[in-house]
Amino acid sequence: MRQAGRYMPEYRKLREKHALLELCRTPELALQVTLQPLRLGVDAAILFADILLPLEPMGARFDFAKGEGPVFYEPITDREQIGRLRVIEPEESLAYVLSTIRLLKRDLRIPLIGFAGAPFTLASYLIEGGKSASFAKTKKLMWGAADAWHELMRKLAEVVRRYLRAQIAAGADAVQLFDSWVGALAPSDYAEHVQPYVRAVLADVEATGVPVLHFGTGTATLLEMMRDAGGSVIGIDWCTPLDDAWRRVGFDRALQGNMDPCALLGPRDVAVRHAERVLDAAGGRPGHIFNLGHGILPETPVENVQAVVDCVAARTAR
Ligand code: CP3
Repeated sequence: MRQAGRYMPEYRKLREKHALLELCRTPELALQVTLQPLRLGVDAAILFADILLPLEPMGARFDFAKGEGPVFYEPITDREQIGRLRVIEPEESLAYVLSTIRLLKRDLRIPLIGFAGAPFTLASYLIEGGKSASFAKTKKLMWGAADAWHELMRKLAEVVRRYLRAQIAAGADAVQLFDSWVGALAPSDYAEHVQPYVRAVLADVEATGVPVLHFGTGTATLLEMMRDAGGSVIGIDWCTPLDDAWRRVGFDRALQGNMDPCALLGPRDVAVRHAERVLDAAGGRPGHIFNLGHGILPETPVENVQAVVDCVAARTAR
């Protein structure tokens, strides 16, 4: 999950001088931000980048508007625009991300997790032009223009497959596929319009042998299908109790999750109690990666994050 960001004073300080995309595109700065949360004592580093980065060289320009999140200049509305999207080579178009990974790997003593957005989640940004509550435009295209949808998903899946492979080749020890908004779909729509593409990406990336984490939110009705699509680790949001999720996914897979990020807002004993509840549900079973159920909120007090990291470290020390 995201672990760097605005909840950390040292991140906010860097952001006073540099735009978010500049941080991502400058390997020395991305290196620095990746390392910032490690002072908390977490067990892995998460590459500092963003899931939207591959979309720009594909031909979809965007920026992060203050307080609004990402905004695309020309959202996709038709097949012609999809036809113009380039299936990029990450070694050329995203060389700066791969440089960051190589820089990190020189000195890092803990595993480095790379990541990419999944085809549906990326498609939703391209079509909606930014964040969305209903995903109405995405669904309208998905249902109403099947050929265009499948061409878009095919292109995105190929870029994501190449990008994750390139991150692993550069040194990432594990990679996470973020299908953050896939919970907007009913199971039948996931099966028909999304799952084949995720399956193709994950089958290819898992063949490298590195652990692959497969994450989404709002996925209570999709967990078995996400498992079938692939991933050595399934990421669980906070709405499904971890023990129920594990029974459904099967004990042959690892699980990541699933503390509610809002519980980190405090007070501190609320945060720690929620962390303990997650550990209790995991029951000490091997293959649990303690994490939040989604990204950390900017208003989170760092002391509460520290208290949760300490609690998890103390309870799981071997
Ligand atoms: O731990 C880390 O080093 C974080 C790296 C990271 C970022 N984005 C940097 C970032 C990761 C893993 C992401 C993934 C990402 N980006 C996802 C999938 C994860 C999830 O939360 O579902 C998504 C959907 C995005 C797209 C995105 N990027 C949005 C919607 C926003 C705006 C949200 C907001 O809080 O304003 C971003 C911006 C962004 N990407 C920030 C960071 C640290 C915060 C913005 C800032 O610094 O101004």
